[in-house]
Amino acid sequence: MKRSRSSLVHQVTYAIKNPRKILPHLRRLARDTWFRLRTRDHVSYYRAVMRSDTARDPEGAVGSHTHKRWLQLGRLQFDYLVEHGLKPECRMLEIGCGNLRAGHLFIDYLHTGNYYGVDISPDILMAAQDTLVRHGLAEKLPYLTPVRDMRFAFLPDEHFDVVHAHSVFSHSPIEVIEECFAHVGRVMKPGAWFDFTFDRTEGKEHQVLREDFYYRTETLIALAAKHGFRATFMDDWEPLHKQSKIRLVKP
Ligand SMILES: C[S@@+](CC[C@H](N)C(=O)[O-])C[C@H]1O[C@@H](n2cnc3c(N)ncnc32)[C@H](O)[C@@H]1O
Repeated sequence: MKRSRSSLVHQVTYAIKNPRKILPHLRRLARDTWFRLRTRDHVSYYRAVMRSDTARDPEGAVGSHTHKRWLQLGRLQFDYLVEHGLKPECRMLEIGCGNLRAGHLFIDYLHTGNYYGVDISPDILMAAQDTLVRHGLAEKLPYLTPVRDMRFAFLPDEHFDVVHAHSVFSHSPIEVIEECFAHVGRVMKPGAWFDFTFDRTEGKEHQVLREDFYYRTETLIALAAKHGFRATFMDDWEPLHKQSKIRLVKP
């Protein structure tokens, strides 16, 4: 059973078991409080977090603390999506593409021009350009675009076959997720699907430092249904990664 990481009991038990993590946690708490005071909404706040993390280490900023892990996490996302229907001719939108941990494999696999990555962080998109150069992918002409919201107003109707968001809703309050569900359907073709991961709790929904958000599966499925999607919890993803995955299909 996945329990609340925000409860005091959990935090004290965790600190006793992991004393070396106390100081970094306090540093993160101080930095996040400073960013919160200086920003007006969640997206601006998280953009500031990404700016600070990317300056230190772009691969660490997307959650991989070694290059080996960065490669493995990209490969995991890619292999799963190919096993679950991604074809080279698909047009793909990746929300929160980061520095192309999985994106570099999608770009290589998809036909030229068929990959569209968006992210709220211009800093991580600069790092994404470095990834393109390192992997020799300039010829594939991927689109990489900074965004300030999840409305996709600059993208055409019914354009994408596949939408992918790994480890994005785990950093998003429910209003941001709902904004995404309310608008992403417009840019998806009928029958297109949208796979996203999230931090799952079976207890009370909660967040830690406004950076990590934990949701119940039924909350996200009900929200998606409200915006016209059919949702499937992807059981076969569970053993692969600590976050859970849901697939939405546009009827
Ligand atoms: C943990 S990283 C994962 C990046 C990438 N999906 C991967 O698996 O490597 C989360 C990314 O989502 C981006 N992000 C967070 N909230 C977002 C939002 N509301 N819209 C677009 N991107 C967002 C962050 O800037 C960051 O690059």
